[in-house]
Amino acid sequence: MPISVHDQTFHLRTSACSYVFAALPSGYLAHLYFGAPLRDAHVAHLQDPTNRAFSPYLPSGIMPDTLPQEIPAYGTGDFREPLVEIAGANGTTASEFVFVSYKISNGKPSLEGLPSFYVEDDSEAQTLEIELHDPISGAVVVLLYTVFEEYGAITRSVRVENRAQTPLHLRRVMSASLDFPTADLDWIHLSGAWARERDLVRAPLQRGSQSIESRRGSSSHQQNPFFALCSPHTTETTGEAWGLNLVYSGSFYSGIDVDQYGTPRAQIGINPFDFGWELQPGASFQAPEAVLMYSGAGLGALSRGFHRLIRQRLCKGTWRDKVRPVLVNSWEASYFKIDEDNIVRLGEAARDAGIELLVMDDGWFGTRDNDTTSLGDWTPHKTKFPHGLGSLGNRLNDLGLTFGLWVEPEMISPDSDLYRAHPDWCLHVPNRRRTEARQQLILDLSREDVCDYLIETMSGVLNGANIGYIKWDMNRNMTEVGSALLPANQQRETAHRYMLGLYSILTALTNRFPEVLFESCSGGGGRFDLGLLPFMPQAWASDNTDAISRLRIQEGTSLAYPAISMGAHVSDCPNHQVHRTTPFATRGAVAMAGTFGYELDLNKLSDAQKEAVKRQVAFVKETRELAQFGDFYRLKSVFTTQRNDGNEAAWMFVSPDQREAVVSWIQVLALPNAPHSLLHMAGLNPSLDYELIPIELGENPKPNSKAPLVLGGDVLINAGIRIANHQGDFHAKVWHLKAR
Ligand code: DGJ
Repeated sequence: MPISVHDQTFHLRTSACSYVFAALPSGYLAHLYFGAPLRDAHVAHLQDPTNRAFSPYLPSGIMPDTLPQEIPAYGTGDFREPLVEIAGANGTTASEFVFVSYKISNGKPSLEGLPSFYVEDDSEAQTLEIELHDPISGAVVVLLYTVFEEYGAITRSVRVENRAQTPLHLRRVMSASLDFPTADLDWIHLSGAWARERDLVRAPLQRGSQSIESRRGSSSHQQNPFFALCSPHTTETTGEAWGLNLVYSGSFYSGIDVDQYGTPRAQIGINPFDFGWELQPGASFQAPEAVLMYSGAGLGALSRGFHRLIRQRLCKGTWRDKVRPVLVNSWEASYFKIDEDNIVRLGEAARDAGIELLVMDDGWFGTRDNDTTSLGDWTPHKTKFPHGLGSLGNRLNDLGLTFGLWVEPEMISPDSDLYRAHPDWCLHVPNRRRTEARQQLILDLSREDVCDYLIETMSGVLNGANIGYIKWDMNRNMTEVGSALLPANQQRETAHRYMLGLYSILTALTNRFPEVLFESCSGGGGRFDLGLLPFMPQAWASDNTDAISRLRIQEGTSLAYPAISMGAHVSDCPNHQVHRTTPFATRGAVAMAGTFGYELDLNKLSDAQKEAVKRQVAFVKETRELAQFGDFYRLKSVFTTQRNDGNEAAWMFVSPDQREAVVSWIQVLALPNAPHSLLHMAGLNPSLDYELIPIELGENPKPNSKAPLVLGGDVLINAGIRIANHQGDFHAKVWHLKAR
């Protein structure tokens, strides 16, 4: 069984890891081990019995400040970061949680109001619920652990219940806290900015606190909730690594506190900064879910573990297992200059190229000719679309295309009929300026009436035409986070209530329109997180469509998120964000590492480029199951280290039966008289022979008269292939591997 209990020691065991903790006689929950699978849970000897100066002790002799714990609390001797901070009736926050009981059940419960991982069958996972009480404040904490045995993962979450007669004031409720025995570790996180999201950072742990966080009301471009710890020598294929992520889209905190004895405490959860929650007697508060993954075989295996679990047990609905359509998006083709005729012309070119979905981006509603107006007025622009969206949808459907539409429902323009009618529907603080970003404000989704309005308005849009896809954008972060409906003592609940409101809207819409494919977006990748993927199984990875910038963005993202979740498009050159010119083939090769599409005016391409588009689309259609459902291997990293100049990137996707693969290699800059380059492949069956078919994705392909190379999987993995020196920057090579 994945969960076993002996003498109050709990052993959570998956195919990839063991996680052990014990309820001590004092009632404290001591964390004992998280790492490679153990046969049994005999690790009690790991507890440190040393008496330490300046460390308070309990009557039982325990020193909370040195005890590794599952639920560290504040105020009774542990000076490190607490899991929860709760003020009771007397106003103090000192608390202490003692073990009361546990319950094991098959399957996994869903979390009230929040997205979470799930099982399809109760036999897939077991859940352990541990109840702990603070006898003085009346707070009860329930720790939930679900063990996904076959997926090698453990999810954790925390529920706080008020069993007192008076309200409790929650100041901090993290989702998971994890004490490690050594600080001889690197930590890896995905930090960045707009247009350069999820840039990989790896650094040795330092003494003291190190954290990443968002205070923006969304998971943000700047930091991503995901982080990993690994041993200093861990590589892509060897060594230990621990990964944590959060199923949440709002402000988060992911941090590691290395204490005086060199023991790190890693935590992840809602950002306690500006958070508060009034918990009435009898009520409970559910924190978002954290997911924990361990790999003893390097970062590649850690990523593949996350990819599989997210694809199969977080994403859900009709589109979870369906191949994603090749699309063309109107944004970089025409920006706001769209109308029925030019969209149909784009559709005709898309049809000729074999594209399946046309997404009409911003500019189709209200009087939206630029970004100063109309968010909230979701009716078709009268001069651009005089016949409405129904007619446009029909014309696109007649071309054989699915009709996709951009919306930004969470926003409101001050210049909109909606704002004029409901000026109090946005987040705001009385008497303070309402700070604008991109000339817009944010609707107050902590309000039920606003959520109901949005559900009905978006349902109206979706019912108004035959729409098969929605791009759900969100183009600013929260300021003046206050709600007109909450009393003063609950204002700090607004940001989290907003997220609950957003999830309720998305639940309603995805239930009403199960066939529609939703893609999330936040000025590109500003809300690329596990909280949105259950509703919107793909996300626009970045507003930066430059192929070379994308190497970093997509490799960083791949640490934690599967390729099928990453929107990636071929765009025009010089690129609109960085003004770089890259070969058409390279743009195609890079976009093929995500959900593939185009973001340019297909009618303005040369004939040779139009032919290249046809070949790219045909190749994507032939192989997309590999990228979308296969196993992903990073072969060469674009991130610089002491041993790697980052001038080459390479990756591959392998089918689950290992009979087929796509391998891509990109050279960033051409080097004079370049050193030899070897490419070792991965994930193949060493006993099979593979035909290596070079794929031409650019204009004017040269006829290839050579007989295809056939090599053993063992040779491709161990000896590799030699990459010929290539003159010219930004060069790409792609091979399709087929087992003979
Ligand atoms: C930001 C998105 O990331 C872009 O792709 C585009 O949809 C614009 N918003 C439209 O305003």
